[in-house]
Amino acid sequence: MSTKLAINLHKLARFTNTAIPIFTLLSFLAGWRISFYFHFLTVPMIGLTLINYYYLFAQRNHSLLRNFGILGQGRYMLESLGPELRQYLYSGDTEERPFNRTERAEVYRKANNVDSASSFGSQNDFDATEVKLRHSLFPISKENLLPYRLTFGEERGIQKTYTLTVPFIISGMSYGALGKSAIRSLARGIAQTGGLMNTGEGGYPKYHLMENCDLAFQIGTAKFGVRQEDGTLDDQRLADLAAKDQVRLIELKLSQGAKPGKGGMLPKEKITAEISELRGVPMGQDVVSPTHHPECEDYHSTVAFIRRIQEVSHLPVGIKLCMGDPRQFAELVAEMKRQDSFPDWITIDGAEGGTGAAPKAFIDRVGMPLFPALKSAQDALVSAGVRQRLKLVASGKLINPGSQIIAFCLGADAIATARGFMLSIGCIQAMQCGSNTCPVGITSHNPKLERGIDIADKALRVANYVHSLEHDLDELLCAAGARCVRELSFDHLYVPNETLLYPFAHRI
Ligand SMILES: Cc1cc2nc3c(=O)[nH]c(=O)nc-3n(C[C@H](O)[C@H](O)[C@H](O)COP(=O)(O)O)c2cc1C
Repeated sequence: MSTKLAINLHKLARFTNTAIPIFTLLSFLAGWRISFYFHFLTVPMIGLTLINYYYLFAQRNHSLLRNFGILGQGRYMLESLGPELRQYLYSGDTEERPFNRTERAEVYRKANNVDSASSFGSQNDFDATEVKLRHSLFPISKENLLPYRLTFGEERGIQKTYTLTVPFIISGMSYGALGKSAIRSLARGIAQTGGLMNTGEGGYPKYHLMENCDLAFQIGTAKFGVRQEDGTLDDQRLADLAAKDQVRLIELKLSQGAKPGKGGMLPKEKITAEISELRGVPMGQDVVSPTHHPECEDYHSTVAFIRRIQEVSHLPVGIKLCMGDPRQFAELVAEMKRQDSFPDWITIDGAEGGTGAAPKAFIDRVGMPLFPALKSAQDALVSAGVRQRLKLVASGKLINPGSQIIAFCLGADAIATARGFMLSIGCIQAMQCGSNTCPVGITSHNPKLERGIDIADKALRVANYVHSLEHDLDELLCAAGARCVRELSFDHLYVPNETLLYPFAHRI
């Protein structure tokens, strides 16, 4: 016979709601008759009684509080503590999303220059459904590796090409989404590696520029920093920005993995007077960017607009998009071919990508995940015979070497990551990027929270992270028997079963 141990909440609430005023009365009587010191208890008890009556009889918003009184608050309290309790106490090392503890720990160790070797065995399920790198029977040694060089703009023969010597780019994150200390830490750190940082769509990159790193200036659909009154591109302002020494490339954002088909979003909590000035937006209300550029109404105008930005800026110009329908992507490529006009690179951002703020339905349910999208893009470019006309950059949870190598095999020439770099400067995945309350100050403009960031120390971590990623990439290339990422291909991948093959096998 089993004994059922259950709490009867109705009885407990009735007991609590009766006990509180009785206890208050007893405490009052004791203070009156026995000792004045009992009133130190009476005062808070009166407060508790009043709050309880407010919950039970006055407020109408919360049914739970109306029915159970103060006891119902316990539920709200535990619920709000739930994420922390799960993260600290209950979640297994491989359970959390978007990044589990083992994935985050790998970044932290790289950033702290600690050996990231693991012992005993993998914590992943080896149920043979994972894509794996096929190593070579004859690995090569490091001396045989070719140095990484990727020159944007070389295909068009422009004067101001840009050569990337490190394949890891800090993906677009604006000043606004991130606080100034985080921006400066990332910028200073990437400058130490000779790498590249994307400004994100936040307008004039004041804090990015302070640290002397190479920048890709991003034009989002709101065109912060380069906008005319009517929301279209101001050629002169773009030319002025492009003339700055540190601005080496321009990226036109068509869409972003976390919210394709929806413009950027900056919640009002994060709009300080300075951000309002830099972006040219009012304070006190959420800023939602348009869903698309007015200049990009169809394939023809989109290609023409990319060309215009190339002509105005004289810099390499790329586009960033999340794949929706691969047939539309193929049509865009066909139009580029028709006009004989190509962007200098395309960034494919997977639907699993991060964001400062976006509606949940978009984060969860819109857009293609990175790997099948990247494969589709690579296939479309190859089958159109134009793969050599541009570079491919991949982003979407590529924070560790294990996933980065898969992206290289699927056609990526370089990797961009936002959250990998956030983790490298101490992000704890508190999931509060949109609310200005980031406990480690990375996505906050509250000076009390930003003070936790020591820019010099965090910059060093960024550099360590990059160097460690480079080191691991070299080792993986050796194992694959490839001298550089360009020698990797789909054939280097073990793709185990039909389900996984389906998206990869998708031909346009
Ligand atoms: C806090 C935050 C802010 C972002 N801001 C931008 C932005 O301004 N422009 C943009 O194109 N993408 C933005 N992104 C998306 C990233 O650039 C990137 O495409 C996406 O997060 C995928 O990379 P990840 O998975 O390595 O983070 C942002 C992401 C985060 C987490």
